[in-house]
Amino acid sequence: MRILITGGAGFVGSHLADKLIAKGDEITVVDDLSTGKYSNVEHLEGNKNFRLIIDTVLNEKLMEELIRETDHVYHMASAVGVRLIMEQPVKTIETIFHGTDVILKFCSRYRKRVLIPSTSEVYGKGASVPFKEDDDLLTGATDKHRWAYACAKTLDEFLALAHWKETHLPVVVVRLFNTVGPRQTGQYGMVVPRFVQAALKNDPIEVHGDGTQSRCFGHVSDVVEGLCKLLETPDCLGHVINLGNSEETTITQLAERAIKLTGSSSSIKYIPYSEAYGEGFEDMRRRVPSLEKAAKLVGYKPTRTLDDIINDVARELKQSAGIASA
Ligand SMILES: NC(=O)c1ccc[n+]([C@@H]2O[C@H](COP(=O)([O-])OP(=O)(O)OC[C@H]3O[C@@H](n4cnc5c(N)ncnc54)[C@H](O)[C@@H]3O)[C@@H](O)[C@H]2O)c1
Repeated sequence: MRILITGGAGFVGSHLADKLIAKGDEITVVDDLSTGKYSNVEHLEGNKNFRLIIDTVLNEKLMEELIRETDHVYHMASAVGVRLIMEQPVKTIETIFHGTDVILKFCSRYRKRVLIPSTSEVYGKGASVPFKEDDDLLTGATDKHRWAYACAKTLDEFLALAHWKETHLPVVVVRLFNTVGPRQTGQYGMVVPRFVQAALKNDPIEVHGDGTQSRCFGHVSDVVEGLCKLLETPDCLGHVINLGNSEETTITQLAERAIKLTGSSSSIKYIPYSEAYGEGFEDMRRRVPSLEKAAKLVGYKPTRTLDDIINDVARELKQSAGIASA
């Protein structure tokens, strides 16, 4: 099968490319390398089933050409990461909304099956966990820039479902909860690579807020398996589906676990949100997915634990540090 992965040089997209190449699919990646890295897909260059195009999904002429010649599309390209969103809110909104608009328009024109990733951020300040797909969504005021990401992704969801309703475009929307693992960069505020990196260097681990806020971390290998099953299963089309892991941990517990598993002497340093992200930053206390729908539709059940994640991330960071110092 011919597959187009936008954002395929990013963290999730590059794991997806690995999985689909191993299956024998022909993969085209389009990525502008804004947060993605060439090194994430360098090992695939030279494979006859792999092609990398460094360009933006906002290039409509290119996207029309590529979508016309593909079978399935995974639209992973997006502005991602709390820090990036706080610092570049215009780019965030434009990339997310305009990018998805372009992809959906051509998938609709050429009748191509497409997966649109959304995010657990859309549940916003919702307090009734676990979050279910048909829950109300509750975001903050428009002068709090972090919510721009959630709202732009919500609009993507509306647009995808509108195409499904009007023309039966074969589309599935997947709300990813915190997805982590090797290749994720800590540069844009992602918590697991930041903590493990600090632990390996025995530097203080900086926890934003009081550390009692909790998250559920899904291993990228589990998530990528889930994404493929969701797009390949016709019963999922026209649906919004949560994906991730429902094992909950506080951010302080995550820091403690990173210290323990890496044998680190790091201390934990608490930084107020206002200092980390500027005045008026709002965060959510808990974010737990209900995975019932994914389990029912495709038998989804994550198998990797938080310890597996930390160990895998630490192994990768040690390896790349070894290469850097060699
Ligand atoms: N990782 C998570 O925890 C998580 C959680 C929720 C949702 N998601 C969603 O999953 C998708 C992948 O995220 P990720 O974690 O791999 O992030 P990532 O930043 O590693 O990947 C995004 C990729 O998109 C590329 N990109 C950005 N703008 C582009 C453009 N205009 N044209 C072409 N490429 C562009 C980037 O260079 C990058 O390679 C995104 O849609 C994101 O919103 C991820």
